Amino acid sequence: MRQKLAAGNWKMNGTKASLAELDALAKAHPDPSVDILICPPATLIDRAAQGVQGTGVGIGAQDCHAETSGAHTGDLSATMLADAGATHVILGHSERREDHAEHNKDIRAKARSAMDAGLVTIICVGESLEQREAANTLDIIGGQLSGSIPDQSTGENLVVAYEPIWAIGTGKVPTLDEIGEVHDFIRSRLEHRFGEGVGRSVRLLYGGSVKPGNAAEIFAVSNVDGALVGGASLKAADFSGIIDALEAV
Ligand code: PGA
Repeated sequence: MRQKLAAGNWKMNGTKASLAELDALAKAHPDPSVDILICPPATLIDRAAQGVQGTGVGIGAQDCHAETSGAHTGDLSATMLADAGATHVILGHSERREDHAEHNKDIRAKARSAMDAGLVTIICVGESLEQREAANTLDIIGGQLSGSIPDQSTGENLVVAYEPIWAIGTGKVPTLDEIGEVHDFIRSRLEHRFGEGVGRSVRLLYGGSVKPGNAAEIFAVSNVDGALVGGASLKAADFSGIIDALEAV
C-alpha cells in the first residue's frame, strides 16, 4: 500500500505572516492518515519546519542546485535545504523548466544530489497543450521520465507528479480517463525500469487546478496517490478540503 500524499507548492508566495496558515493546517489535521507536505519559498523553510515540529505536516523545497556547495550565487544546495528542515524537494516543475531552461539532464543531476542529501524528490513531468493536441503526450512523458529520474530511485526517495502544463493555474483539468491513462503509463514505465517492487512503490501525484471541489473524483482514478497543489494550498481551509478528500479514498 502506498501512503497517500497531499503536497502544496506555494511557489513565489508567502511571507512570515503566511506561517499562520501552516498552524491552521496542522491544527485542522492533528492526526492525519495521509502525508501532508507544504513547500513554501526557501526564505520560510527554516521557520516553517520549526513551526510544524511534532505535527503531521512536513516541509519541502521547490528546487535545489545539483552541487553540494560552491560558487553559485543565489543558489541553494539540497544539503542546505535539508539542514534548514526540508524533507522533500520539488524538481523539474514546468515553471522551472520554462523560466530557467531546465532540461531533463539538469533535473536528473539535481535529483541525484537531493537523494544523496536524504531528501524525497518530487519530480514533475507534463505535456504542453500543443503536445497533447498533437497526440504526443505519452512520448513526451516517457522522455521526461527516462531523462529526469536517476537510477538510484526507490519508493522511498522518489515521487512523480504528473502536471499537464495547460492545467496549471488555469482551472482546466484533464478528463479522468486522460489522467488515468497517463498515471497507468507512468506506473508501467517505472515497473519496467526499476522492477515491479520498486515501480509499484513510487507514489504518483496529479497536479494542475486541483481544488476541494474536484479532488475526490481525481483521487478515485487508478494510480493517483495524491496531489501536488498550487493555488489551493495557500489557504489552510482550501488545502484542508483536499486533504479530507484524500483521507476519504
Ligand atoms: P495549481 O498549480 O494547483 O495552481 O494549478 C499546480 C502546480 O503547479 O503544482
